[in-house]
Amino acid sequence: MIRRLLLWLVLALAIGTLLWGAVCALFILTRPTVTFTPEELARPAADLPAGFLWGTATSAHQIEGGHDNDWTRFESVPGNIEGGDRSTVATDHWNRMPEDVALMKAIGANAYRFSIEWSRLEPEEGAWNESAWSRYQDLVRQLRDAGITPMVTLLHFTLPNWLADRGGVVAAEFPERFSRFAAQAGRRLGDDVELWCTINEPNVQMYMGYLAGVWPPLETSPARAASAWVGLARAHAGAARALRSVDPDARVGIALNQMTLQPEWRYWLPDWLTVRLVDQAWNWAFYDAIRDGRVRLRLPGASIDETLPDLEGSADYFGLNYYHRYLLHAVPGAPQGVQMRPGPGMQSELGGDPPPGDSYPEGLLLLMREAQKRYGLPIYITEAGIADDEGVMRGPLIRGHVEAIQRALSEGIPVRGYFHWTLMDNFEWDKGYRPRFGLYRVDRETLERTPAGGATVFAAFSPER
Ligand code: FCB
Repeated sequence: MIRRLLLWLVLALAIGTLLWGAVCALFILTRPTVTFTPEELARPAADLPAGFLWGTATSAHQIEGGHDNDWTRFESVPGNIEGGDRSTVATDHWNRMPEDVALMKAIGANAYRFSIEWSRLEPEEGAWNESAWSRYQDLVRQLRDAGITPMVTLLHFTLPNWLADRGGVVAAEFPERFSRFAAQAGRRLGDDVELWCTINEPNVQMYMGYLAGVWPPLETSPARAASAWVGLARAHAGAARALRSVDPDARVGIALNQMTLQPEWRYWLPDWLTVRLVDQAWNWAFYDAIRDGRVRLRLPGASIDETLPDLEGSADYFGLNYYHRYLLHAVPGAPQGVQMRPGPGMQSELGGDPPPGDSYPEGLLLLMREAQKRYGLPIYITEAGIADDEGVMRGPLIRGHVEAIQRALSEGIPVRGYFHWTLMDNFEWDKGYRPRFGLYRVDRETLERTPAGGATVFAAFSPER
């Protein structure tokens, strides 16, 4: 009897181990990893293809100064921004546009992604600020004259106060108001602008504002987060349609924040499942909705499944913002049931608790492969960068990203451009001015811009050199 029991036990253990191994193998095989060798990273600059967009990215609120929007109100509350910093002056870009275009030119950029500030352009509902529109028209002309292709973002986190007061991105009227703004932008800038990014990082806006509750409007409600997601998706669809109708050449997309996600314990099923769930929600749910005309999202505590036919086909390209890799560990009781920690790569100085993920340029290649498999759209790296005060990590990071791009191109993936975040040090949201992401260093007293570490590496890869 005992012998039989033992036999069964051994058999069960063997079958269990086999099954376990098979499941782990399946997960590992479906999630390959890549490592670039030091020799590969030291290769001299291979030429990027003709027409490749090689530029920098910024956002209005982080550089212009002189804003009055939901963020400036948020900044006025002590404790919301590190060091009590305010965006009041930012880098004074609003008054220094020609100088800043010259900075782009000096490092060989042939493209520039920037946002136009809705609260400036429509300070009261339905009242357009003509002088602000002409300042942006002037900027796109300066860019064109300098041989720099503009990509214009319509919403980069900040909202006009009149809209924020009515509920911001969860307000029923948001998609329609945003589409009207997009139509204005298309009419006024469309002659010089083909590339449009409707919304920057809807996943970050939803998470930081409605789940983590650390950005406006400081909420921590999964149900409201789900509404924000749907509101942003509807707004994107409406804006894409508006842009295409006023500007037939328009090429429209969104910039999605993407992360490389790996299990903290490689052979632990709960960690693999966590990676799969978070990866789907964070990295793919938004563009899947654009592909399918159906929004499907599962958050801890809320889920959405809604058909939105207008969304289908509303993107002409895939916009990828890439900064971090995280190792995920399933921990019941942790926020959203997940503990996140950085991997062993270069560590950004963004700061925060928990700390941000590490830099892992290989992840960019993995994400591009997956995006190509899912959507087959042209890809723009709409942001990538690192907070690096001494400027020693930026150069290697750019090299790693170029290696990822070259490999993607050699595999036939249609990657069309790279916009480094960012042109110059700026107002980094709740972290204030401390983190320095710029290819140019900005002196906070004089606002003087001087090339930072990484600027020469960036210039060396320019297709214009
Ligand atoms: C991205 C944001 C951008 C900037 C960088 C560092 O998530 O789009 O505004 O803050 O991070």
